[in-house]
Amino acid sequence: MAGALLEVEDLTVWLATRRGPQKAVDGVSFRVDAGEIFGIAGESGSGKTMTALALLGLLPHAARTSGRAVFDGRDLLAMSARQLRAVRGRHIAMVSQDPSTSLHPMLSVETQLTEHMRHHLGLRRGAARDRAVELLATVRIPDPERALSAHPAQFSGGMRQRIAIAVALACRPRLLLADEPTTALDVTVQAGILRLLDRLRREQDLAVVVITHDLGVMSAVSDRICVMYGGRVAEVGPRESVLTGPRHPYTRGLLDALPHPEGGAAALRPIPGSPPPLGQIPDGCPFHPRCAFAVPSCRTERPEPAPAGAGHAAACPPDPLKGTP
Ligand SMILES: Nc1ncnc2c1ncn2[C@@H]1O[C@H](COP(=O)(O)OP(=O)(O)OP(=O)(O)O)[C@@H](O)[C@H]1O
Ligand SMILES: [Mg+2]
Repeated sequence: MAGALLEVEDLTVWLATRRGPQKAVDGVSFRVDAGEIFGIAGESGSGKTMTALALLGLLPHAARTSGRAVFDGRDLLAMSARQLRAVRGRHIAMVSQDPSTSLHPMLSVETQLTEHMRHHLGLRRGAARDRAVELLATVRIPDPERALSAHPAQFSGGMRQRIAIAVALACRPRLLLADEPTTALDVTVQAGILRLLDRLRREQDLAVVVITHDLGVMSAVSDRICVMYGGRVAEVGPRESVLTGPRHPYTRGLLDALPHPEGGAAALRPIPGSPPPLGQIPDGCPFHPRCAFAVPSCRTERPEPAPAGAGHAAACPPDPLKGTP
C-alpha cells in the first residue's frame, strides 16, 4: 500500500441559502489511499456530492469551506482558482451520474477526448488521437476508431458513461471522483461500469472515490466504505467489517433496507423517517430522531468517530443502555 493520496481533515462546507450560510458538510475526515476504491454512501442530502465538489473547487456560488484536503502533499482547499484548474482534469478527475453533463452533445468523441490532453499534456493532434483510440479500447468501446467521429447521442447510456470515464482518464489522473456513476443505468450495465472501475484502478494505479446512495452497489467494489449522514461521517472502515459488522445504527439501517436476492420485496426494511433538509440538521447525533437505539445524550452530545475495530470507526459511542448498537 502506497499510503494516503488524499487526506481530508475536518472538512466543513457552508452553502449560501436565503436563511444565511448552512452547513452541508460538517467536520468530515477520511483518507483515500493510492490505488484503492473508497466508497462514500448515504441517503440523499447527506453531503456526498458537496464533499466531492469541495475537493475540486466546484462548489455552488458563495459556498465557503474550512478544514484541509491534502492531495499529494498540497492542500486543495488552500489553492487559488488557477492552481485548482491545473489539478482538475489533470490529477483529479470527476464523472457524474449523468454522462450528458460531463459530455458535450455537440462535440465529437474525439474532440472531447483530446482537448484536455492537448491542453494539459501538450500533445500534438496525432499523438492525442492515438491516445484517444487507446482510451476508448481501455474502457471497452467497440470499434474505437469509428467511435471517435461519433457524437455522444449515438451511444447507449452505459456506453456514454464509459466514454465519460475515458475523458476523465485522458490525462492519467491519480484520483477519480465518481459521483453516482451507475444510478441512471440498469443493473447489468451498472455491474459492467463497476467492473471497469475496478480494473482501471488495478491497471492504472488509480484511486477511485465512488459515491452512491446504495450500499449494495458499494459492496461489489469498494476496499473501504464511508457512510455519511447529515453532513457527517457516521462510520468508516474496511468493506468487510462495515458490511458484516456495522457499528452505527444508520449503517445497519441502510443494510437492512437492501433487497435480499432471494428474499423478494418482503425483505426490505426501510429506515423510518427521512433525512433532514439543509439548515434543519438536529443537534447531537444527526441521526437520533430516526434511531431505534437513541438515548437522551444522543440529542445533545455530538459523537465523533471512535475506533470500532482495525481501521474501523463509528460515530456512535457504545453505550450499556443501548446494548451493542
Ligand atoms: N446549490 C445548493 N444550494 C443550497 N443547498 C444545496 C445546494 N445543493 C445541494 N444543497 C443541499 O446541500 C445538502 C447536501 O447536498 P449533497 O448534494 O451533497 O447531497 P448528496 O449526499 O450528494 O445527495 P444525493 O444522494 O441526493 O445526491 C442537501 O441538503 C442539499 O439539499
Ligand atoms: Mg449527490
